[in-house]
Amino acid sequence: MTDSKPQIVDNFGRPHTYLRISLTDRCNLRCFYCMPEEGIELMEKSNIMTIEEIIDLATTFRDLGVDTIRLTGGEPLVRKNFGFLIEELAKLGVTLKLTTNGIVLDKYLDLFQKIGLKKINISLDTLDKAKSIFITKRDYFQRILQNLETALEMDMEVKLNIVLIKGVNDNEINDFIELTRYKNLTIKFIEFMPFKGNKWDWDKGVSKNEILDTISNGFGIIEELKNPKHSTSSNFKVLNHVGSFAIVSTITSPFCDDCNRIRVTADGKMKNCLFANSETDLLTPLRNRDAMDDLIINAIKTKKHSRDGMDVKMEAEHYEQNRSMISIGG
Ligand code: 5AD
Ligand code: SF4
Repeated sequence: MTDSKPQIVDNFGRPHTYLRISLTDRCNLRCFYCMPEEGIELMEKSNIMTIEEIIDLATTFRDLGVDTIRLTGGEPLVRKNFGFLIEELAKLGVTLKLTTNGIVLDKYLDLFQKIGLKKINISLDTLDKAKSIFITKRDYFQRILQNLETALEMDMEVKLNIVLIKGVNDNEINDFIELTRYKNLTIKFIEFMPFKGNKWDWDKGVSKNEILDTISNGFGIIEELKNPKHSTSSNFKVLNHVGSFAIVSTITSPFCDDCNRIRVTADGKMKNCLFANSETDLLTPLRNRDAMDDLIINAIKTKKHSRDGMDVKMEAEHYEQNRSMISIGG
């Protein structure tokens, strides 16, 4: 049950209680930092976990002490029977969270309210329509903004995920912060990270310190907020603003010491870390109805302390062997 003791503990003594499940590698957008330009080879349908398998998997992890599950993609809301899945997962008694691009969010908000899913991260890298089309290669900007407003009206706890890239959207940092003046939301700036095929170059990245400088130049006093346990961001707010902001500094100041995350890809591979090259196949035991507890408990013991061993710097030989972000799920 939800109060079961964490059993997934790595060799650094970190209990893993947070599971991110990617429901699909498909997406209705084509953001360049996430999806390689040449596209990806999509997973074979038969290798993707079925809805029933996802529920089984989630139950196994819940019984091993996982108390929080985030659904990711690709875009999780394009998964067929998503509504049924989330209703079933809600019965597990874990905290459910979602990361989405927001395009079809309106279809599910009533259901989320009914089952008590409140925490939604929406990826929105720009407040400019033309730029949105440039970044995503699609034209859904107005729809996403509308769905964001509806979610806020329904008192969802919304975070906006923004991957900052120099020359693309770094001039919008304070436009995003302006939203926090009256709106109860969190703006989450994410340092640009390297994945297979995304042409990463840290010269294009914007660091935590640069972000903070820009905001304090624009708005004056910034208050530092207490970081919740296992938080992967530093959290702040501008004095007297209603909303807050956060910075995920995976590149300049990683937060691995306290990591409690496990990922499972849509094709049922467990990843110990966002940057992990090695994976543990859970699909086969799921399909054979074999017990998975020992497999999971042993797999976490191979987790490295930080960024899958890239403790000091990001190495192309390493991250080019990882998946692209669209098939990890963030
Ligand atoms: N660097 C940083 N964040 C990324 N995301 C996707 N690709 C990258 C990247 N290369 C973020 C998106 C999405 C979240 C799941 O991961 O903003 O919201
Ligand atoms: Fe955890 Fe890996 Fe992210 Fe560090 S980089 S917080 S170890 S998932």
